[in-house]
Amino acid sequence: MQHAFWHDKWERGEIGFHQKDINPFLIRFADKAGLTDGKRVLVPLCGKSQDMTWLLQRGCEVVGVELNESAVQQYFADLGVTPEVSIVGDFACYKATDITIYCGDVLSITTELLGRIDGVYDRAALVALPADMRRPYVKTLLAAAPDAHHLLITFEYDQALHSGPPFSVSEDELFELYGSTKLQPALAREPLEGGLKGKVPAMETAWLVK
Ligand SMILES: C[S@@+](CC[C@H](N)C(=O)[O-])C[C@H]1O[C@@H](n2cnc3c(N)ncnc32)[C@H](O)[C@@H]1O
Repeated sequence: MQHAFWHDKWERGEIGFHQKDINPFLIRFADKAGLTDGKRVLVPLCGKSQDMTWLLQRGCEVVGVELNESAVQQYFADLGVTPEVSIVGDFACYKATDITIYCGDVLSITTELLGRIDGVYDRAALVALPADMRRPYVKTLLAAAPDAHHLLITFEYDQALHSGPPFSVSEDELFELYGSTKLQPALAREPLEGGLKGKVPAMETAWLVK
């Protein structure tokens, strides 16, 4: 998926993926995934997700990565906090107490950039990427945060009914991407309320990677 596609989405305000409520799977499984007080949690492709604020409120330190700078600015405005902004490598770095958002391409993150990461929260990130980008994305994530547990939320639906994003990602593909020793059996698989884009029947699934 081209960067221009996402910049265009943000510019037009076509951000149907943005949830005003906290993701129920995050609330349900954060403890199980170790996204708890004092942990440093990476949120790739974070948008302006309020799930980051929920993580902050439970005492996590949050490290987001987002391509679109206006999304990052909107997140801090919603939070009511003025971040310090600097340039770090290929990224614009927005930083305030307990939260840093790197603005740039997720494929450029490294352990040197991020520092210690205890957990990864992936909602609408892996599934936002087309098939040919998913392998490099997971490879980058596993290299940049080698010790982290992941709470991963995916969709499964008939791809013929919607071109994506979000894309349908099968269990088989996840085992291929993360490896059978790291990917645990699904924590929960439930029908997506109202369907995808309000029309396509879909399952939403929560996974633990460790
Ligand atoms: C489907 S949205 C999900 C946002 C967020 N996770 C949420 O739950 O609201 C995908 C986000 O990833 C960002 N994005 C797309 N490609 C990216 C890339 N290569 N590096 C960093 N961010 C990217 C987009 O700008 C968009 O905000």
